[in-house]
Amino acid sequence: MKKTATTARPPTPAPKTVAILGAGGRGAGFAHLIRDFRLLGRVVAVAEPRDDYRAAFVKEHRVAAGKVFKRWQDFVKKPKLCDAVVISTMDRDHAGPAVACLNLGYDVLLEKPMATSLADCRAIEDAQRRRGAIVGVCHSLRYNKGFRKVKELLDSGVIGRIMSLDLLEQVAYGHQAHSFVRGNWGNEGRSTFMLMSKCCHDIDYIAYLIGKDKPCLRVSSFGHLSHFTRANAPAGSPERCTDGCPVEATCPYSAIKTYVQVENRHWWPASVCSHDHSAEAHLEAIRKGPYGRCVYRCDNDVVDHQVVSLEFAQDITATFTMTAFTQGGGRKLRIHGDKGELLFDESRITVKTFGDNNGHEITLGRENGGHGGGDSRVVREWLQALHSRDDSGIVANAQEALRTHTIVFAAERSRREGRMMAIADMRG
Ligand SMILES: NC(=O)c1ccc[n+]([C@@H]2O[C@H](COP(=O)([O-])OP(=O)(O)OC[C@H]3O[C@@H](n4cnc5c(N)ncnc54)[C@H](O)[C@@H]3O)[C@@H](O)[C@H]2O)c1
Repeated sequence: MKKTATTARPPTPAPKTVAILGAGGRGAGFAHLIRDFRLLGRVVAVAEPRDDYRAAFVKEHRVAAGKVFKRWQDFVKKPKLCDAVVISTMDRDHAGPAVACLNLGYDVLLEKPMATSLADCRAIEDAQRRRGAIVGVCHSLRYNKGFRKVKELLDSGVIGRIMSLDLLEQVAYGHQAHSFVRGNWGNEGRSTFMLMSKCCHDIDYIAYLIGKDKPCLRVSSFGHLSHFTRANAPAGSPERCTDGCPVEATCPYSAIKTYVQVENRHWWPASVCSHDHSAEAHLEAIRKGPYGRCVYRCDNDVVDHQVVSLEFAQDITATFTMTAFTQGGGRKLRIHGDKGELLFDESRITVKTFGDNNGHEITLGRENGGHGGGDSRVVREWLQALHSRDDSGIVANAQEALRTHTIVFAAERSRREGRMMAIADMRG
């Protein structure tokens, strides 16, 4: 029998080895995603202070004993022990591990916000450039299927030159109460300001849509914490929903209804209050922990509504609104060009071009996974870049994140100082 010539396949490169710093909600999620791309990456180390979370993580990912740490500070004391790190600690703990890991020679996938001060964002970008490291920042909207499609349509010129756009972020009353009143991001001293913690994605996306070649020039912003305050606490309400609150049965923010009496305690947001998801453990968590506090009696200080006006080069104007006061979540976007307009509500894109009176609709199929499949794409593109040593596929690298975080810092300064801010004034 005639032999067919066989071409030798190049050897498959070994998966990149990754440490997860901060194995909470996001860190555990990233570890699962890395496991989905097992030819590209493998989780080999973890740093996590909470014993139950760390133990479960170690078991699930079979992390070797020598590569388990309580804190990122312990991890960076060791010489480099894998290829890359995912930094999914809380907001105030991004710059420390990012700069330390970059200096040790790790590549980095960094959760947003890049850092909570402009100086720290610059330090990360500087360390990335000095080391030539691959850094991806998790600006999830850039990776979301629908938001990607919008960018593609705009770049195709279908509505012509952009004149203005308006983006609305509907945080939703329940999400606000969970994350930005009771939870991790309610108090600026423990996390950061609202426009950074929740809306750096939105400002980033606006700047990304408009394009690097048309930079943001000036911003102004207004916003307040008006509702989730002690002044609005119902008469007779105690500190906790479990303390016999007289309005608990009808309160939309009841912790008992949100964290205990739910269809599935493994689902967000109920899942966040305890690692053990039995009804007893959740009840105990709201009796003692942060999620059982009356939403009108917490230590929250971040705004519950804010608007930002932005002016970009070439006379482009944009507005952004975040509000807690919506029933459901999601974003709504309107973009106005000189040839037509584009409307997007996260499930459907409508393009209306002038002169033909016709609307063209694109219905987007659902994609599974966090941020409409965006989280999975973030991880895949980052792992691919680790292999190719080419970060051109990473749409939110350190330079891009620094560029758009600068706008967020400027907008917040405008809100606090009651004046318009020029972005050029932030560059000094
Ligand atoms: N890209 C997105 O859309 C998106 C969505 C949600 C959260 N985030 C960001 O992801 C980050 C993590 O959020 P999360 O919801 O997973 O919070 P989380 O509280 O569930 O996780 C943070 C983890 O860090 C751990 N930690 C604390 N100190 C540490 C230390 N010294 N060393 C190592 N680990 C430490 C905590 O124990 C916790 O498990 C935050 O910065 C948040 O803003 C981004």
